[in-house]
Amino acid sequence: MWPYPKIVAHRGGGTLAPENTVAGLRAGLAYGFHAVEFDVMLSRDGIGMVMHDPEFGRTVAGQGSVAETDAIELSGMDAGSWFGPQFRDEPVPFFTQFIDYCKQQRIWMNVEIKPADGFERETGSWVAKITREHYAAEIAAGDPAAVPLLSSFSFEALAAARDAAPGLPRGYLLDTIPADWQAQARELGAVAIHTNQRHLTRELAAQVKAAGYGLFCYTVNDPERGREILSWGVDGFCTDRIDLIGPTFA
Ligand code: G3P
Ligand code: MG
Repeated sequence: MWPYPKIVAHRGGGTLAPENTVAGLRAGLAYGFHAVEFDVMLSRDGIGMVMHDPEFGRTVAGQGSVAETDAIELSGMDAGSWFGPQFRDEPVPFFTQFIDYCKQQRIWMNVEIKPADGFERETGSWVAKITREHYAAEIAAGDPAAVPLLSSFSFEALAAARDAAPGLPRGYLLDTIPADWQAQARELGAVAIHTNQRHLTRELAAQVKAAGYGLFCYTVNDPERGREILSWGVDGFCTDRIDLIGPTFA
């Protein structure tokens, strides 16, 4: 039912390294993680970059936005200094760099499609196409655990991903699970619901599981809460505290 890893490092290496950087992936590996969640957004020239915020100012200095900057320029920006001087010049990664690194190190990917406003379809379709190209052999081999899971809060982006690469699994991200969740999930052909652990109840978890969907939560940083939701039937979650909640946490 849930062929994917149970515990996943959030935004690369959680709070142990600057988010959405290769340094984050290295931190995850250092803590034994071979499973990662990260965010992908399109540059002005339509290239997927690993970045969470649409605007500069938090993880990269300055003013401007991802959607108004070319990929090559983004890839030269310092996404590490905000976190600590030892990470200075840690670049904004190309999505394909993350793919290469994860394949090399055998890291399973939950790719969150994070479109800038107005670029929902374009982003969903681009991420799905590139992922399908890079994982063609794994998809053909039919081992679901070897294939990345795409997810998004954007219905439109996921619908575009479905149209571009129907064979790639999709998780529908919902901050709170609405009454009509199942109709939406069905339309998207989603295999899983990804939801905010804060708003999850035992009843909702049971409902999602009874309907046959995978159930994944973000972002669990308290081991006790992790144990509680797992006891409700939650299949997996991502964590920022890769130092507190390890890959074999149960
Ligand atoms: O994919 C789950 C989680 O990453 C969603 O929230 O804002 O951290 O991307 P955010
Ligand atoms: Mg995310």
